[in-house]
Amino acid sequence: PAPATTLTVHADTPGPTYDRHIFTQFAEHLGNGVYGGLWVGPNSKIPNVRGFRTDVVTALRGIAVPAVRWPGGCFADEYHWREGVGPRGKRPVKINTNWGGVTEPNAVGTHEFMDLVEQLGAQAYISGNVGNGTPQEMAEWVEYMTSPAGTLADERTKNGHKAPWAVPFFGIGNELWGCGGNMRAPYAADVTRRYATFIKAPAGTKVTKIASGANSADYAWTETMMREAGDQVDALSMHYYTVAAPWEHKLSSTVFGEEEWAHVLAETLRMDEMLTKHSAAMDKYDPQKKVWLAVDEWGTWYAPDPGTNPGFLRQQNTLRDAMVTAVNLNIFAKHADRVKMTAIAQMVNVLQAMILTDGAKMVLTPTYHVFAMYKPYMDGTVLPIDIASPWYNKNQWTMPAVSASAVRGKDGIVRIALANLDPNKATSVSATLPGVTAQGVTGQVLTASTMTAHNSFETPNVVAPTAFDGARLSGGTLAVTLPPMSVVMLELK
Ligand code: AHR
Repeated sequence: PAPATTLTVHADTPGPTYDRHIFTQFAEHLGNGVYGGLWVGPNSKIPNVRGFRTDVVTALRGIAVPAVRWPGGCFADEYHWREGVGPRGKRPVKINTNWGGVTEPNAVGTHEFMDLVEQLGAQAYISGNVGNGTPQEMAEWVEYMTSPAGTLADERTKNGHKAPWAVPFFGIGNELWGCGGNMRAPYAADVTRRYATFIKAPAGTKVTKIASGANSADYAWTETMMREAGDQVDALSMHYYTVAAPWEHKLSSTVFGEEEWAHVLAETLRMDEMLTKHSAAMDKYDPQKKVWLAVDEWGTWYAPDPGTNPGFLRQQNTLRDAMVTAVNLNIFAKHADRVKMTAIAQMVNVLQAMILTDGAKMVLTPTYHVFAMYKPYMDGTVLPIDIASPWYNKNQWTMPAVSASAVRGKDGIVRIALANLDPNKATSVSATLPGVTAQGVTGQVLTASTMTAHNSFETPNVVAPTAFDGARLSGGTLAVTLPPMSVVMLELK
């Protein structure tokens, strides 16, 4: 029979870089995202290095986290950095007003976060406080972290770190249209101009300034920010969550049927149109694409798992989330000329997490495994694709069944990612590969026997990648049989 899906991978006309920062992670002071999930303190029985749990750090090193965004989110716009430096026992205990009203011990502050980043081999993406902080407070934080000399550098030395840290990325507030101050776009643009003015990197260093961007399809926000403040920043952010339900009645993370499967994937696919339209708005003021787009919050947002604190945004993670991850990572390839950074929300225990913990227990989610499968995309070259896929539909949710991307890795190897969103039918893919000289193909597949399959502390390997033998390369044509509801990563060698 004729192949259902035809694909051309244009290895002979390579595109932009698939920036490794597309795999950036987000760690907010929210629920057990930091406390419990990353930080257990140096006196914990849970094995740790200077307070950060060894199991989680080791697992995160496995996906080569390039950068971590911290301390929020909404938390960032009420965060006062001075409360998180100096002897831990003397730091003020505050209330986390955004997330559950619990106490915030300030045990993880600047020094601890920078230690985490070093343990991970990652870079820091610090989110500054525009909401209820001053430009002076923000400027002093940047100076405290980065300056080689002066009173603030002396204070840093006294607090245990003589050498300045690198702060490659700095966010000028978060969601200024919402929890970051409920500003209107023209005002937010002026505020951004003002705060950006005072972020100064020491000579010979660079702090990339990222402006607070739009919520989902708010293209007017992007347009205003670019028109009024685009010349003051290096990047603009954008947040889009897959919610697929009214905000007050979110979906369950594990109890769902095909209707919710299809709805979640259809909502996720909207990312493509949003990036096209935000990029077009940016093109008006920056046709050379000097200002890049940072999708620094994305992922699924379901109802909190039963029995958990609703303010902690704790949710399980199923094969459906693996599909969401692959779809978004494929879409980012298409927009890699403008999208240089994205950050899934969030790294541990919050929303669409890589890792879930409970006390000393830890489990890797299906989302973690997709990040591991796509790791070789980091800093590779996007290969443009043409694809004609059959449609998958359930009720009113209609979408192409196959999502794809292709990247030539820094190691020279061409990789093709394919996701079959249809939970019922396998599909065959036939790909032509101009510019590919490989002789053979190997691969990995992530799938399961049910769409709600997930990993728990008791059964941690229900959804995990295995070797894939459904691809053949002959005469320059690649033939693949994709199982239903699967993510496949192929290597052509
Ligand atoms: O990721 C959870 C929250 O979602 C973040 O704090 C905020 O920026 C967004 O609304």
